[in-house]
Amino acid sequence: MVNRKDTLWEQFLQPIVGIFIDGKQLRQLYESIDWQRECDRLSTPDLVYPDYYKSQNFHGIEGGYLNGGAATSYDPITQYALPPNETWVRQELIDRIQGTPRRILDLGCGTGSTTLLLKKAFPEAEVIGLDLSPYMLVMAERKAEAAGVDIQWRHGKAEETGLPEASFDLVTASLLFHETPPAVAKSILRESFRLLKGGGQVLILDGNQRTLRQVNWLTEVFEEPYIKAYATDSVDAWMGSAGFEAVQTQDVWLLNQVTQGMKPLPVDEQVYQRTQRRTIDDFGSEGIPAPAY
Ligand SMILES: C[S@@+](CC[C@H](N)C(=O)[O-])C[C@H]1O[C@@H](n2cnc3c(N)ncnc32)[C@H](O)[C@@H]1O
Repeated sequence: MVNRKDTLWEQFLQPIVGIFIDGKQLRQLYESIDWQRECDRLSTPDLVYPDYYKSQNFHGIEGGYLNGGAATSYDPITQYALPPNETWVRQELIDRIQGTPRRILDLGCGTGSTTLLLKKAFPEAEVIGLDLSPYMLVMAERKAEAAGVDIQWRHGKAEETGLPEASFDLVTASLLFHETPPAVAKSILRESFRLLKGGGQVLILDGNQRTLRQVNWLTEVFEEPYIKAYATDSVDAWMGSAGFEAVQTQDVWLLNQVTQGMKPLPVDEQVYQRTQRRTIDDFGSEGIPAPAY
């Protein structure tokens, strides 16, 4: 892992975070993993990395997420990047899930922190975590094994998953959109729309765009190449133009937000449901006339 020396992250934040993170333990973890073998096992052969991903540094780390150093240090650092508490912030996405999804896809799942919460909330569901970095997937798989949960890990592009259409009840992404150019975030939402069944839900947890716009220095801190473009735009608007309905964004503490939307039901299903509702309203829940009082 090579770090740039001139960044705000390198100069000020890394030394502070370094006080709280056990570097020796991290190195031991890093060295205990046969990265080549594990990444080969989890990688999709012939996957071509998009330029916006492989050519950029993230958090001042050259090579972005395509190395074991980034994957092993991700969780220890992220716990300080989601105030006031990482689990509370992630739980805000879980709390907005409607119904009981049976098939769930977590895009840009990274080391699987949100993916594991999804599986914990819906143990019967089939849960898939997808990410472009096999290194991050190595860590995610280890965490799932340690927790004793069955999650499928898939190496792939969120904007072009190759998964069958209308096959998921819920698609999520946490902390992904501020790391992609807005055009890619929009394609990821179009892909989510394709993947969801009618009536399915999309949930995006990420940095609070309103706050990031107002507090300019925040966009400098984490050495994210696309965060400024993310901050000036609107996940709400992207979701609407991808075809989602009932779109709304809610603040999560000060620094984060959750945006949700629903894929509309096909028209014949909407008509059927309206008819059913009318029958229940007219005749009571059993479909027989309600007693007149
Ligand atoms: C900041 S991390 C977030 C990880 C995880 N979702 C979380 O909440 O901690 C961003 C992740 O998105 C992945 N990523 C970025 N662009 C992607 C894309 N187009 N398709 C799939 N994964 C992507 C990166 O490899 C990285 O693991």
